[in-house]
Amino acid sequence: MPADPRTTVAVATIVLALLPSGSGCSSSAEPERQATMAVLGLDARPVNETCVGSVEPPEVLSRHPCIDPATLRPTSSLVPYGVRAPLWSDGADKNRYIALPEGASFAVSERGGWELPPGGVLVKEFELGGRRLETRFVTRDASGTYRFYTYAFLDGQHDARLLTDGAEIPLESSTWTVPSEAQCDQCHNRAAGRVLGLQTGQLDRPWTYSSTGREADQLETLKAIGFVKGLEPAPLVFPDLEDETVPVEARARAYLHVNCSTCHRPRGVATSIMDLRSHVDVRGMGVCMTYPMFSDPTGADGRLLVPGEPDRSILFHRATTVDPLLRMPPVGRATIDPLGAQLLRRWIEEMPACN
Ligand code: HEC
Ligand code: HEC
Repeated sequence: MPADPRTTVAVATIVLALLPSGSGCSSSAEPERQATMAVLGLDARPVNETCVGSVEPPEVLSRHPCIDPATLRPTSSLVPYGVRAPLWSDGADKNRYIALPEGASFAVSERGGWELPPGGVLVKEFELGGRRLETRFVTRDASGTYRFYTYAFLDGQHDARLLTDGAEIPLESSTWTVPSEAQCDQCHNRAAGRVLGLQTGQLDRPWTYSSTGREADQLETLKAIGFVKGLEPAPLVFPDLEDETVPVEARARAYLHVNCSTCHRPRGVATSIMDLRSHVDVRGMGVCMTYPMFSDPTGADGRLLVPGEPDRSILFHRATTVDPLLRMPPVGRATIDPLGAQLLRRWIEEMPACN
């Protein structure tokens, strides 16, 4: 007989309380964090019988089995989560949620990526200035096949429609572009592991659970409800991009990892030799004093990256231009990310040489 999830969590709480250094994590910040946030964010794994991956998506969001038709928000069977370093999406606010079938859990790769188990569902909501824009889904069916689809709030906030070919939503001072399913696939590609934000280093942060009102350690809470088992310390660290106590280099590299490396990595979708993942050293990135494969839009004898000279660095130019033919990423961004631009500029300015 399967264990009652409530009992399992109660036992997990006691075990955690007895182990001052957490279960297996040996980072030095750990004991302090345990002392300030001893409580878990959730008392039990929410019961989830309807929100499972093999559902055929209905035409409108209100009919989706993961969604409460009254609020058009995910039901209480989904668990909200947050990441440390989010993708820039033209300043949109995002909410993220997880639903797993009873008893299922994420498998964690050597690099700390969390693999969605068959039947699992991930949801990401987008809104800008209070206007709802999209509710996106990643699902995995029983045979292990991933599916990516989105509902767009095209006219008003009453309901959202399933869209496969993308669309444009006019906003007051800009246009929101809903990606097509093919564009979802470009970023959520196989080489990047399909699921992008669920990584130990991204989830290693406090989170406030609205269902209990408690702020708690997110990894410990996800472990206690059985979403993940036996976590190793994060191999990839994602600093808070706004944290001025973290060196600019680490934050700039995390920025490139999240916003660019899904395509710019070995076997990624971009036909370019760049590897923008954060654990690769500057030499291995293939950018320093490298001639471009494509154009040089800097007008100043540019290279992909010139130490000390952001304005001659094509990487900086393409990450900060709004020109639709040049901007990076080529999908999902139409405006400049002020924080990203500042981090990349400072990182390149402070870089003494190509090593
Ligand atoms: C420009 C690249 C890009 C495009 C295009 C894109 N995504 Fe993502 N998506 C990301 C990144 C990076 C994350 C993780 C960081 C975050 O959550 O902010 C993510 C996160 C998600 C998540 C949360 C689970 C996860 O993988 O971390 C869902 C759900 C999602 N995307 C669905 C979609 C769907 C559906 C589409 C197409 C309609 C799409 N995305 C298009 C880059 C992209
Ligand atoms: C959705 C996949 C995708 C993402 C995400 C993405 N790129 Fe690209 N990138 C491409 C493709 C495809 C090309 C080649 C076509 C072109 O030049 O536009 C490219 C080309 C480039 C080039 C030109 C390389 C050369 O040798 O000429 C640079 C520089 C670049 N990207 C930087 C970035 C940066 C910086 C980011 C993040 C801010 C980023 N890219 C995010 C797909 C992507």
